[in-house]
Amino acid sequence: MAESTVFFSTRPLPCLLLFLLLAVFLHGCSSATAPRRMVGDEATMTERFQRWKSEHNRSYATAEEERRRLRVYARNVRYIEATNAAAGLTYELGETAYTDLTNDEFMAMYTAPPLSSADDDAAAAAMVITTRAGPVDDHLPQAQVYFNLSAGSPASVDWRASGAVTEVKDQGRCGSCWAFSTVAVVEGIQKIRKGKLVSLSEQELVDCDTLDSGCDGGVSYRALEWITSNGGITTRDDYPYTGKAGAACDRAKLGHHAATITGLRRVATRSEASLANAVAGQPVAVSIEAGGDNFQHYRKGVYDGPCGTRLNHGVTVVGYGQEAAADGGGDRYWIVKNSWGKSWGDQGYIKMKKDVAGKPEGLCGIAIRPSFPLM
Ligand SMILES: *[C@@H]1O[C@H](CO)[C@@H](O)[C@H](O)[C@H]1NC(C)=O
Ligand SMILES: *[C@@H]1O[C@H](CO)[C@@H](O)[C@H](O)[C@H]1NC(C)=O
Repeated sequence: MAESTVFFSTRPLPCLLLFLLLAVFLHGCSSATAPRRMVGDEATMTERFQRWKSEHNRSYATAEEERRRLRVYARNVRYIEATNAAAGLTYELGETAYTDLTNDEFMAMYTAPPLSSADDDAAAAAMVITTRAGPVDDHLPQAQVYFNLSAGSPASVDWRASGAVTEVKDQGRCGSCWAFSTVAVVEGIQKIRKGKLVSLSEQELVDCDTLDSGCDGGVSYRALEWITSNGGITTRDDYPYTGKAGAACDRAKLGHHAATITGLRRVATRSEASLANAVAGQPVAVSIEAGGDNFQHYRKGVYDGPCGTRLNHGVTVVGYGQEAAADGGGDRYWIVKNSWGKSWGDQGYIKMKKDVAGKPEGLCGIAIRPSFPLM
C-alpha cells in the first residue's frame, strides 16, 4: 500500500489548501471570542461524532482509539464543510460510513494497489496500438475489441430503470472491487438477455479465479475470461460473500452455473464514444483511480475530480445522462455503481463527469480499461 500512500500524500491541491489556510486565518482574526467558540465547536464536534457513531454502529476497542478517531472525524468534517463552501463545485461532499478514516487508511482498505507498473497511464499510453477496430491497450486479438463511434446511442441510459442492476453491495475490507464489477456486468447482461436478475457470487471469484488475486486486487476482463473458461458462475446465495482473503476455493460449487457467458469484449481504450455505445447495450465494467479526500467523502452531484489515472478500483457503469441546464449546469455524466455499501456516495452510486474536454482517457481514467461479457 506504500505506493498509494505516497501518491496521495503528494497529490497537489493548492487552491483548497490556500482556502483552508485562509479560513483558519480569518477565523483566528475575526473575533475576540474565538477561543471560547473553539471550545464550543469541540463540544459540538464530540456530540456530532457520538451521533455519527451510533448511526453507523461504530465502536472502538480503547479510549485512545476513540480519541484518535474523533480527531480524524473532526478533520474530515471540517474538510467536507470547507470544500462544500468553496464556490463552483459541481458536486457535494458529505459524511459517510468512512468519515472516521484518514484518506490513506481508506485507500489501503477499500481500493487495490495499481495492478502493476505496466498499467500506469504513461506505460499504457506507450503500449497503445492502433488497429482497424480502434486503439487497444495491449496485444489483444482485434476481434475482441469493441470500437464503435456511431452517434446513434440514446441521450440517456439507466439500466437500474430496466431492473438490470442488483442492490449496491459492500466489498468490506477486501480489495475485491474487481469481483463486484465483474459480477455486476454478468448480472446485467443476464437480465437483458434472459429476463431474470440473479445476484451472483463475488466470493467464488475471490476464492477460485486464479487469473486474479482475491482480496489483493484483480481486473474485470480477466475475471470475465475466468468465468468463460469455468463455464459459468454461481449465485451469491450458493457461494456467499465473506470478504475474507485466503479461503480455499469451494470446488464443489465450480460446476453450479447460475449464469453462463460466451466470452467478453474489451472496449477500445480512450474512446468515451465507444464506451457510451457499449453502455447503451449493457452495463460495462471499468477501472478508475478512486482516491483522494473528495472521492472518499463524495455525496452527490457530478464528480469531476481531482483524480488521476492510476487505476486502482473496479466499478460498473450502469448508464449515463445529463444534468438539467438550470441546476446542474448541463454536465454529462456516467452513472457508476460502486461496492462500498449504500451509505457511501449517492445511495452507493457516483455520477462521474463524461466527455471531459482534452481527456480521451476519461475522468479518473474511466475510459482506459472497460470490458463487458457476451451472452
Ligand atoms: C445498526 O444496527 C442496527 C441494529 O442492529 C441496524 O438495524 C442498522 O441497520 C445498523 N446500521 C448500520 C448503518 O449498519
Ligand atoms: C454501435 O452503436 C450504435 C449506437 O449506440 C448501436 O445502435 C449499434 O448497434 C452499435 N454497433 C455495434 C456493432 O454494437
